[in-house]
Amino acid sequence: MPKTYDIAVIPGDGTGPEVVREGIKVLETAGEIFGFQLKFSHYQWGGEHYRATGEILPEGALDTLSKADAIYLGAIGDPDVKPGILEKGILLTIRFHLDQYVNLRPVKLYEGVATPIKDKGPADIDFVVVRENTEGLYAGAGGFLKRGTADEVAVQESINTRKGVERCVRFAFEYCRRRDREKKLTLCGKTNVLTYAFDLWERTFYEVAREYPDIQVDYAHVDAICMWMVKNPEWFDVIVTDNMFGDIITDLAAMIQGGMGIAAGGNINPDGVSMFEHIGGSAPKYTGKNMINPIAAICAGQIMLETLGERKAAAAIEQAVAKVLRDDIADVGAGRMGLTTEQVGDRVVSCLRQ
Ligand code: IPM
Ligand code: MN
Repeated sequence: MPKTYDIAVIPGDGTGPEVVREGIKVLETAGEIFGFQLKFSHYQWGGEHYRATGEILPEGALDTLSKADAIYLGAIGDPDVKPGILEKGILLTIRFHLDQYVNLRPVKLYEGVATPIKDKGPADIDFVVVRENTEGLYAGAGGFLKRGTADEVAVQESINTRKGVERCVRFAFEYCRRRDREKKLTLCGKTNVLTYAFDLWERTFYEVAREYPDIQVDYAHVDAICMWMVKNPEWFDVIVTDNMFGDIITDLAAMIQGGMGIAAGGNINPDGVSMFEHIGGSAPKYTGKNMINPIAAICAGQIMLETLGERKAAAAIEQAVAKVLRDDIADVGAGRMGLTTEQVGDRVVSCLRQ
């Protein structure tokens, strides 16, 4: 019997379903070639379901997801729903409930993909951001006092626990060792201003570092990281940071690797159920046009297979993607690829079969 993985699929809003369809095509091909099966169960949660029923996630949804081997997510976000409702009610709820405490975001410039950074190429842009994914400013701690009055107070607290910080930092050290490139881990923080939160991060980082003498450690403030990422992206191998900083720097990082058509990541619980998604949003204006680039969603599938332990299949998908980006796609932007969404998926599938 071939190994079978139960994958919960949430195609979501906008162009989510289109790119997920291509991702599934590629994943199924990889399964055929490398001898495993994927059983996909689709869940139609997102803006449309919410607008039709008033329900964000049905009862039992989280329970259902917690029984899958992994979750493959399209995109959440609907222009007709107030910002925050679906993002918090679906995306963040799943991340928190399944304790997906690392948001792993590889940043790699492939050959044939244009970067806005002058004089930098694929040899210079190849690093991974490990973003803490369950705490910090995202924890939802805070509140209002005297809301709507002239004396209003709004507090939003950054929650950093020793356990939460340490497990994220440990993951980053382990990942850096396994990645086995420059073996350099940079902590991205703001120790000069956030003197409580990043004091804890810094102490934890250097304590854990003692167990990893093979890893070179470095520190940079988040603002400086933004500067270096543009000026000298080749300095980075693995970066570890908190939830909010990780959110911000990975959008910058996505742009230097060629944009939202390429950027993918995983919400990882190393001992539980992880969820894989492309970083670009639901791109409502391209919905149903067969114009959006599915490569990011395909790469999310690749990270999923790697996390499930199907390393060979994941590596083959990466090679196929690299070849299609180099040889077939004119420009990674939606509508400028010289190919349709579906044709890009087909090209990756045929490269995989070669
Ligand atoms: C991301 C997104 C989410 C985040 C939003 C949609 C809540 O920007 O995955 O980076 O802030 O984490
Ligand atoms: Mn973001």
